[in-house]
Amino acid sequence: MSDLILTRDQGAIRFISMNRPDKLNAMSEALVDELSDKLRVADTDPAISVIVISGEGRAFSAGADLSDWDSENPTPAREVAAGLTRVMAFYGQLVEMNTTLIAAVQGYVLGGGCNLAISCDLVVAGESAIFGYPEVRLGLAATGVTPTLVHQIGRKAAFELLTLCENIDAEQALNFGMINRIVPDDQVLEAATKMAERLASFNHDALCLTKQTLRRAADLPIGKAIELGLDMGFTAKMYL
Ligand code: COA
Repeated sequence: MSDLILTRDQGAIRFISMNRPDKLNAMSEALVDELSDKLRVADTDPAISVIVISGEGRAFSAGADLSDWDSENPTPAREVAAGLTRVMAFYGQLVEMNTTLIAAVQGYVLGGGCNLAISCDLVVAGESAIFGYPEVRLGLAATGVTPTLVHQIGRKAAFELLTLCENIDAEQALNFGMINRIVPDDQVLEAATKMAERLASFNHDALCLTKQTLRRAADLPIGKAIELGLDMGFTAKMYL
């Protein structure tokens, strides 16, 4: 087994960390596959209530791995389609997770790395973290990251980030609703751990059903969302 992803447990909290610091945790196919496996395992482990995702080194993640990318020699369409299908399946997996996810981010949080972070339920960022979507600036259509971003922060802010391609700082990311907390750079993991400990101290099913209700209600018109709340309330009665 490679060491691209590190994991450790502290009580009901699983820490999952991308471990490719020399490449700023660029999300190669292998890294995404392994991260996806580790998340799947954690999500089905009844002993785990909260997952904290982080990146080793000076960046959370510089996004998609560009090492094989050559603007002069575009990748064949079939390969692009296969890659996109994999990464979209990964973003879909993040949305479907039942376990609460906290991202602890520092340094560069770019492209797919930014999507990973904002897909988490809570994001704790270091004060000098830098967020952005460089795809269009590089001549790449940002089709993979757009759905998550627009769902998370709405059309105006998403359009600005995706098309102006200007990196933003943690304050601006907070204003855009991409993150929850800004803390000193050397306290990111500590702050995320405190949050995770608090969540893990609550009833696991209550947390899980609340997360599921929020996720589903957010995509529904208000009338349907209220019906969903009622249905989920009855489901909760069976568990709590
Ligand atoms: N894919 C593959 N490798 C990457 C990478 C990526 N997305 N981002 C950084 N790296 C690698 C660099 O090639 C370098 O490797 P090397 O030391 O073997 O040459 C290493 O990570 C450190 O990056 P470096 O560029 O030297 O650091 P920096 O602090 O000067 O710059 C960035 C940091 C993030 C501004 C710069 O690396 C960058 O622009 N990366 C690409 C980001 C991007 O466009 N992501 C979205 C892709 S759609």
